[in-house]
Amino acid sequence: MNGFKYYTPTKVVFGENTESQTGKLVKEFGGKKILIHYGGGSVIRSGLMDRVKASLDAEGLEYVILGGAVPNPRLSLVYEGIELCKKENVDFLLAVGGGSAIDSAKAIGYGVYNGGDVWDFYDYKRVAKGCLPLGVVLTLSATGSEMSDSSVITKEEGLVKRGYSSDYGRPKFAVMNPELTKTLPDYQTACGVTDICMHTMERYFVNGDTLDITDSLAEGLLRTVMANGRILAKDPSNSKARAEVMWAGSLAHNGLTGCGTDGGDWMPHKIEHELGGLYDVAHGAGLAAVWGSWARYVYKDCMPRFKKFAINVMGVAEEGTDEEIILKGIEAVQDWYRDIKMPTNIRELGVTPTEEELVEMAHKCAVGVNGCKGSAKLLSENDMLASLKGAM
Ligand code: NZQ
Ligand code: ZN
Repeated sequence: MNGFKYYTPTKVVFGENTESQTGKLVKEFGGKKILIHYGGGSVIRSGLMDRVKASLDAEGLEYVILGGAVPNPRLSLVYEGIELCKKENVDFLLAVGGGSAIDSAKAIGYGVYNGGDVWDFYDYKRVAKGCLPLGVVLTLSATGSEMSDSSVITKEEGLVKRGYSSDYGRPKFAVMNPELTKTLPDYQTACGVTDICMHTMERYFVNGDTLDITDSLAEGLLRTVMANGRILAKDPSNSKARAEVMWAGSLAHNGLTGCGTDGGDWMPHKIEHELGGLYDVAHGAGLAAVWGSWARYVYKDCMPRFKKFAINVMGVAEEGTDEEIILKGIEAVQDWYRDIKMPTNIRELGVTPTEEELVEMAHKCAVGVNGCKGSAKLLSENDMLASLKGAM
């Protein structure tokens, strides 16, 4: 079997109005001077920022504020945040928003704690020795960054999107009020449920040993998120579905659904990161666009897992050859994407890369993974290109 490390230090406070506890939580984890970091302003428009500030005020905590984290958050804002933290002697980061605000805050935390150029971590040149403590008030169920060890940043120069993972970046606490996700555009909700499923599927499509308990958790999570994603596509104000999806988002990426595997495949994510870097597309939609091509390209090297998935998750009947069952399973995932209005190829995503751009993305992707990567099938640069071309 594969041994594993399971480390989820994040204190989760889940439920309606939990944002009112933010100040107490910051205090509990030792914060005195806080940087509140947010995105493009949805948290101000919804009134959430005022409630968060009131909760910090009630605890007598000091804070400075930095907004502007965009989807596919940029390195330049991270640098700005680092300088602000140093100038203001910030000792605690509070991200209020989705994955982009959280990831940007994590990067600021690495930069302040370690000094030097923070991009070194995303460029695999250095390993972080720590991070400023970070808390989260989550507004979008998607990335799982509220409990995960990862942070994904885009460097404007060369449009390079890279992730860095370290346990130091795991948030101290995450405030999760599913009601806050009701102001999301339907498209972002759908991107979120796609990302949640993909975090589980990346860990599921592996070769080598696995554990039945992990498979059962993953399969149950996937069935739940797919069913509730369909509910939210028709009834965005469904509170129960919002709660199911929000908790699933954290469990999908805090490590739970990967225990006992080799760590996962992750090539759909790596390929999507190239699309996100070059075209600034929403992460979940990019994943939906590339997944079908990837799955059809790799399944022959991972037949038992694709078959198990088709039957246990997608409900395909055990009739016909293994290959027929598997292909029905892949088609069923793409039907689900269509039901929740996600793209099933790159053109539907709204971008049309040239042949040269496809080659460039495959090359950057290969560089980003040190040559080749994948567990369902190990992909080389040529395979990455073929998978991208199949997604056109
Ligand atoms: O910026 P604001 O104004 O807040 O608007 C955001 C943004 O436009 C909006 N939004 C968020 N919550 C809202 C809301 N609008 C109305 N009501 C709300 N409650 O939604 C848009 C998308 O937000 P963003 O934070 O960019 O989305 P997401 O959470 O999907 O994060 C995407 C980023 O995370 C990375 C992705 O690559 C991408 O850069 N990822 C991070 C991971 C991690 N740290 O573990 C793992 C993932 O695989 C992923 O790569
Ligand atoms: Zn993701």
